[in-house]
Amino acid sequence: MTAGDNCAVSLRRPIEDDQPPIAGMVDEWFSGRRVRHLVARAWFRHFASTSWIADDPRGKPAGFLIGYRSPDHPGEAVIVLVGVHPNCRRRGIGRALVEAFLTDVHKAGVATVTALAWPGEPLAVAFFRAVAFRPDDGPGTQNLYGTPGIPDYDGIGEDRIVFVHRRRTGDGPGGPGDGPGVPERPSVP
Ligand SMILES: CC(C)(COP(=O)(O)OP(=O)(O)OC[C@H]1O[C@@H](n2cnc3c(N)ncnc32)[C@H](O)[C@@H]1OP(=O)(O)O)[C@@H](O)C(=O)NCCC(=O)NCCS
Repeated sequence: MTAGDNCAVSLRRPIEDDQPPIAGMVDEWFSGRRVRHLVARAWFRHFASTSWIADDPRGKPAGFLIGYRSPDHPGEAVIVLVGVHPNCRRRGIGRALVEAFLTDVHKAGVATVTALAWPGEPLAVAFFRAVAFRPDDGPGTQNLYGTPGIPDYDGIGEDRIVFVHRRRTGDGPGGPGDGPGVPERPSVP
């Protein structure tokens, strides 16, 4: 990244005031998919310690990741949403957000991280594969637009790919995970 680069970001924790601008932009960032309702204020109030904002040099959000450690399954964590401003893509911001999240949760003893993606979103599929998540291909999955996914996962017509990252013994934060093949389906994110 060069000096004066509007995509030279710094990572920080979210605050509640981040919710309105991010909610206002997120549908556009997701190519018109309506995800605004997933970016609720509660995430910014109650899950800031496991979520991240990537600020551009003007202090405007260029990316975000909302995630949490499962209260009921402490060995698992969930990436709810990750998004990067369309003008700042392929600069490593998404990867940096995921690696920051993995560092957090690995320190807390988490071994398994999941993230959902919509089938037929090649960009999201390529991204999660690149950051060492693998699609759950176990029972109940079908080939959905070329990737194993679960029909009606989140309700009728709401098919999802369940991406899984497993920490291997000896992996550093953001390590390579377990590679292809997911031995066991984690609980529902
Ligand atoms: C997915 C998303 C977060 C990636 O953010 P990003 O900052 O562009 O990602 P990175 O630059 O860190 O890319 C990391 C790797 O992912 C892969 N990748 C990312 N975008 C890709 C694309 N458009 N095509 C193919 N591979 C891609 C590449 O392997 C890339 O590494 P490389 O650039 O060294 O080849 C961003 O494109 C986005 O916000 N998309 C819309 C929202 C979304 O789909 N979120 C995921 C589901 S919650």
